[in-house]
Amino acid sequence: MSEKIYSRIIGTGRYLPEKILTNHDLETLVDTSDQWIRERTGIEQRHIAAEGQTTCDLAEQASLKAIEMAGIDPATIDMIVFATTTPDKVFPSTACLLQQRLGIRGCPAFDIQAVCTGFVYAVSVADQFIKTGMAKRVLVVGAETLSRITNWQDRTTCILFGDGAGAVLFEASNQPGILSTHIHADGQYEDLLHVPSGPSKLPQSDDIAEKTMAMKGNEVFKVAVNTLSRIANETLDANNMTKDQIDWLVPHQANLRIITATAKKLGLSDKQVVVTVNKHANTSSASVPMALDEAIRDGRIQPGQTILMEAFGGGFTWGSALLKY
Ligand code: ACO
Repeated sequence: MSEKIYSRIIGTGRYLPEKILTNHDLETLVDTSDQWIRERTGIEQRHIAAEGQTTCDLAEQASLKAIEMAGIDPATIDMIVFATTTPDKVFPSTACLLQQRLGIRGCPAFDIQAVCTGFVYAVSVADQFIKTGMAKRVLVVGAETLSRITNWQDRTTCILFGDGAGAVLFEASNQPGILSTHIHADGQYEDLLHVPSGPSKLPQSDDIAEKTMAMKGNEVFKVAVNTLSRIANETLDANNMTKDQIDWLVPHQANLRIITATAKKLGLSDKQVVVTVNKHANTSSASVPMALDEAIRDGRIQPGQTILMEAFGGGFTWGSALLKY
C-alpha cells in the first residue's frame, strides 16, 4: 500500500506596506474616535499601500520571505494558488503576475476569489493537489489592497480594513501536515457584505458607493460568530479530535470581539489564539497567513503542534484547516 501524502509547511512570510494609518488619523477623515474603534473592533492601526503599490507587489515580498525561510529554489515550486479580492488587473491573474516576478515558468498559477476565506480556500485546493501527487511544492498566497475598495468617507466600513500579504509554502511529505480542510459558501447573504459593482456590472459608474465595500456590520457579526464555532466543531469531528487537542487557533483577523467569542466557544485561552488585528485591521485573505507567519517566526508555534485556521467572509464563504506544524 502506498504511503499517505500530507501537505507540510516549509516556509512562511508576510509583508505590510510602510504607511500606517492610526485610529487617530481616521478621526480627521470621518466622525469616529480611537476609543470607539478599539472598543468595538480591537483595531489600533492599519497599513495602507503606497500610490502605485499593488497587491502583487505586497505578495512578492511575502513570497520571497517564505521562499527564504524554506531555503528552496523558486524554480522548484510547481503551483501557485493566489487568494485575492483586489487583483492588480482583471487579467492576467495576480498569480501569473507573481509567477513572472519570481522568475518561474510553466507551473500552473491561478487566483481564488473567496474574499476573507480566500486563503483557507487556497490551502484546501493546494492540499488536494499535494495529497493526490499532482503537485509537490505549492506556494499559497493571500494578499490584498483593500484600501482601494474602501470608501474613506464611510465611517461604518473604513475603520475596519487594511492592506497586506501573507505567503505559505507547502511541500509533500509522509509526515502529518494538513489533517483536513473544510470549505463552504452560502450565496444568499450577498447583500450583507459586498462591493456593488464590478467589471460586468455598472462598469461606467463613477459613484463611489458602487465601487467600495458595503456592509451590514451587525448582521455579519452574528452570522460570523455562529458559523465560525460550527466550522471548528465540524473540523474536530472529522478528525475524531476534541477541543483540548488544539494548540493554536489562527483565525481570520476581522474583529477582536469575533475572535474572542469564537475562542471562548472552543474553550481556548487567550494565550492559544494568535491575534494581529490590532496592528493591521482586516486584511481579508492576507490575515490568516500573516498571523501564522508571525506566530511561527516569534516561536509561539512549535513543530508538532496542532493548529486550527479558520475564516469567514463575503459570499458568505467560510472554511477551516486543521494541521500539524
Ligand atoms: N465611529 C463611531 N460611531 C460609529 C462608527 C464609527 N466608526 N460606525 C458606526 N457608528 C455608530 C453607528 O452609527 C451607531 O450609532 P446609533 O446607535 O446612533 O445608530 C452605533 O455606532 C452602533 O453601531 P453598530 O453598527 O450597531 O455597532 P456594532 O457594535 O455592531 O459595531 C462593527 C460595528 C464594528 C462594524 C461590528 O458590527 C462588526 O465588527 N461587524 C463585523 C463586520 C466585519 O468584521 N466585517 C468584515 C468582513 S466579514 C469578516 O471578515 C468576518
